[in-house]
Amino acid sequence: MNASELLSSGSKILKKNKIETHQLDSELVLSSLLKKQRESLLINLNEEVSKNTINNFERLISRRAHKEPLAYILRSKEFWSKDFFVDKGALIPRPETELLCESVIKLFKNKKIHILDMGTGTGCIILSVLSEIKEAKGIGIDVSKEAIKVAKKNSKKLGLNKRVKFINKSLEDIYGYKFDLIVSNPPYIKTSDIKNLSDDVKRFEPKIALDGGKDGLDVIKKVIYKSNTILNKLGILALEIGYGQYFKVSQILKEKNFEEELLVRDYRDNVRCVLAKFKD
Ligand SMILES: C[S@@+](CC[C@H](N)C(=O)[O-])C[C@H]1O[C@@H](n2cnc3c(N)ncnc32)[C@H](O)[C@@H]1O
Repeated sequence: MNASELLSSGSKILKKNKIETHQLDSELVLSSLLKKQRESLLINLNEEVSKNTINNFERLISRRAHKEPLAYILRSKEFWSKDFFVDKGALIPRPETELLCESVIKLFKNKKIHILDMGTGTGCIILSVLSEIKEAKGIGIDVSKEAIKVAKKNSKKLGLNKRVKFINKSLEDIYGYKFDLIVSNPPYIKTSDIKNLSDDVKRFEPKIALDGGKDGLDVIKKVIYKSNTILNKLGILALEIGYGQYFKVSQILKEKNFEEELLVRDYRDNVRCVLAKFKD
């Protein structure tokens, strides 16, 4: 069997299972198995494929047909133009989270700062920021042991393990440090909305990374309360928030003595990221 025939059989199975990106996913699975760029696969479609590759391909396509996200199947997700290791222990990094990275990197470029990432997951935020701000150091914490394992793996993979420590603890248990920058993309989905998420997300991604409690604000509140005690006087708190949460988050920030420094909107004009500092 050649690559073209194998790709179309994979795509057909995925289409039958209502995977919208059936053609692309089939190509990405095969290029990953052949350790080739997708483009290079597509110009060598007549190449014969080994029996072993066909078996592996069928196994991975069957996982995708059962709605497992491609990033978990391929154990990889691109974020900030870097290849992050991912597994089921951590949320798959989302493109909108790059908005947060972009804004804090602009603000702190070339500064020697100490960063905390609360709820670090794969470590995608703090590792991307450290890769651009060479003088900075940081700590990433997460209540999930599995997520911390993933983040540590990524820090080694990206050669940043000398500038970052990953610690398995809840954000409420951070004492004894002060930070110039606190970043966080906390779980912010209302518990009652989780059932409406797509199968890919609700059946495979960790609940603890999604569930923000009754109003979606449980962990956001904890992040803001904790930041009030561990952020340096001139520091910045950078938070990713969910759709429609800006008004409430803005009130909580005010109550805790913060004022907004910058709001970042997504392409649909929703505020998705708030940068705040202490009121003068
Ligand atoms: C939405 S995910 C974000 C992961 C990663 N920062 C990203 O942007 O892809 C939220 C993370 O917060 C962690 N988390 C939830 N509650 C926490 C708590 N109380 N203390 C520390 N981490 C927590 C979860 O385990 C999860 O990894």
